[in-house]
Amino acid sequence: MTNATLPRIAVLGAGHVGPAIARLALAAGHPVSIATSGNPGDLALVTQLLIPGAEPRRGSDAIARADIVVLAIPLHRFQAIDADALSGKLVIDAMNYWPATDGRLPPPFDYDIGTSEVVAERLRDADVVKTLNHVGYHDLERYASPPGSLDRRALGVAGDAPDAVATVSTFIDRIGYDAVPVGALSAGRVLQPGGPVFGAVLRRADFQRAVHSPVEQQQAFRVAEQNYARSA
Ligand SMILES: NC(=O)c1ccc[n+]([C@@H]2O[C@H](COP(=O)([O-])OP(=O)(O)OC[C@H]3O[C@@H](n4cnc5c(N)ncnc54)[C@H](OP(=O)(O)O)[C@@H]3O)[C@@H](O)[C@H]2O)c1
Repeated sequence: MTNATLPRIAVLGAGHVGPAIARLALAAGHPVSIATSGNPGDLALVTQLLIPGAEPRRGSDAIARADIVVLAIPLHRFQAIDADALSGKLVIDAMNYWPATDGRLPPPFDYDIGTSEVVAERLRDADVVKTLNHVGYHDLERYASPPGSLDRRALGVAGDAPDAVATVSTFIDRIGYDAVPVGALSAGRVLQPGGPVFGAVLRRADFQRAVHSPVEQQQAFRVAEQNYARSA
């Protein structure tokens, strides 16, 4: 695949993790645009300095041109995203429920289901895939490495649509990680805060061991449920 035919990436969010994802995508040859909730003009200098090669755009504009849209915004800002604009899009949900910054989220985030399931519920006409959420932004670039590297690390990928999971897995591989499908979006709870791989940057075999251990999986589900119960 030539760079001209690689999927165009729109990253919504230019805080900590958005620029890191954008830089990795650019380094892999993808065309990348980046947006905040504000005016793209305000993002121009930051983009030039920190994400050279990316195009600052208004969110709606970035989404319209993208093949893959990455949600890299705080979860408590998600309700402001225009669900209609994402209709028919492939969406990577890199968000987490992080009470320290998100506070106590109002419904629907008090359901005892995974955050990406709630995101997908609102983005009914999009294909939502959960990944890129469980590794810190500083580690994301530090550990990225080419396919076949001895020390290559893994990122979990969860989604309900096999084609979407496959496309996102290819993207994850290109930006420097072994993509490990963990199942449907509901299984993506193992990638959430409190889960066995959250904050860990593991090699594929260690990652698979961690997510497939029934004990650790059950614990991740319990923590996710407790989080939502607390936010009710
Ligand atoms: N930090 C990490 O290491 C890390 C790693 C993996 C995943 N995550 C997850 O990724 C999400 C973002 O984390 P972060 O640490 O990068 O947050 P952050 O530093 O607070 O940055 C958030 C960014 O989102 C933008 N934003 C907010 N609402 C928006 C909207 N409606 N449209 C477009 N952009 C919007 C903000 O810009 P304006 O306010 O100017 O619009 C800001 O640029 C969180 O859910 C977090 O849990 C974080």
